[in-house]
Amino acid sequence: MSNAIEVKNLTYYYSEGTPNQVAAIKNVNLAIEKGTMVGIIGHTGSGKSTLISHFNGLLKPAEGNVFVDGEDIWQSKETLRGSRFKVGLCFQYPEYQLFEETVFADISFGPKNMKLSPEEVRERVLEAAEFTGLRKEMLDKSPFDLSGGEKRRAAIAGVMAMKPQTLVFDEPAAGLDPSGRKELIKLIQNYREKTGCTVVIVSHSMEDIARVAERVIVVNDGEIAADGTVDEVYSHSDELRKMGLNVPEITQIFSKLHDMGYDVPGNVYSVEKGAEIILNLIGRGCR
Ligand SMILES: Nc1ncnc2c1ncn2[C@@H]1O[C@H](COP(=O)(O)OP(=O)(O)OP(=O)(O)O)[C@@H](O)[C@H]1O
Ligand SMILES: [Mg+2]
Repeated sequence: MSNAIEVKNLTYYYSEGTPNQVAAIKNVNLAIEKGTMVGIIGHTGSGKSTLISHFNGLLKPAEGNVFVDGEDIWQSKETLRGSRFKVGLCFQYPEYQLFEETVFADISFGPKNMKLSPEEVRERVLEAAEFTGLRKEMLDKSPFDLSGGEKRRAAIAGVMAMKPQTLVFDEPAAGLDPSGRKELIKLIQNYREKTGCTVVIVSHSMEDIARVAERVIVVNDGEIAADGTVDEVYSHSDELRKMGLNVPEITQIFSKLHDMGYDVPGNVYSVEKGAEIILNLIGRGCR
């Protein structure tokens, strides 16, 4: 079976050929298997957004190739267009890209471009709206009359309504409070369980990524610095900190206790999990 996404020897420069040329991605090789849930972490400016913008041809490699579903997307107009439908990209703060008169029209934008029948478009919009928790009466409103959280959901619904094989989210929970973050991450998780699609999430939050990802890729200075399961990657917390990542405090505490010989696991990434272990240790069980 072909990979959902594969990049080979990918290099990308901003301001190519000018004195300001910056290599934002440097000879990256990466394959994302179908059906997996992959997290991408890395400090500000490490190249995460640049990398994922290659996944559906928004940026063209200076060197190297990008394959979607086994096809080199730059080989023809058709493969490039196909990659836009196969890989749905949800940008950071996607709500700023809402521009239609109604929420319905906004969510319809992608499916309409796919030249689906009006009935099919309508069906997809209603389904995506329901899935993302937008009430039916909101669909006739202007997107500008929605709350911040609702706008975010409408933008995500627009990408989901295209039913891409792979969904890529750039910082989906940015700017939300902790409960909003959790809800949104849960929503993405539910969507993936329902559809079995491949999901890539870029996040600054190692805690959010630990919650959902089966595989974590660390981007540092335009290169892949680590790639493995959450446990494999997060166990190198000193290296991660050196790359400017915020290892969750709870992880640092448990890893230290573990190293000191206490009978606790060293791989704890959320306060909830930490609390559960402590309560169990002192014989009070979970709440
Ligand atoms: N439009 C642009 N023009 C010139 N340089 C850019 C442009 N966009 C990004 N860069 C540079 O490319 C590098 C990678 O940027 P990129 O936005 O991919 O990082 P990122 O990991 O997504 O960061 P963040 O976590 O802040 O979103 C950085 O050095 C950045 O300054
Ligand atoms: Mg970015």
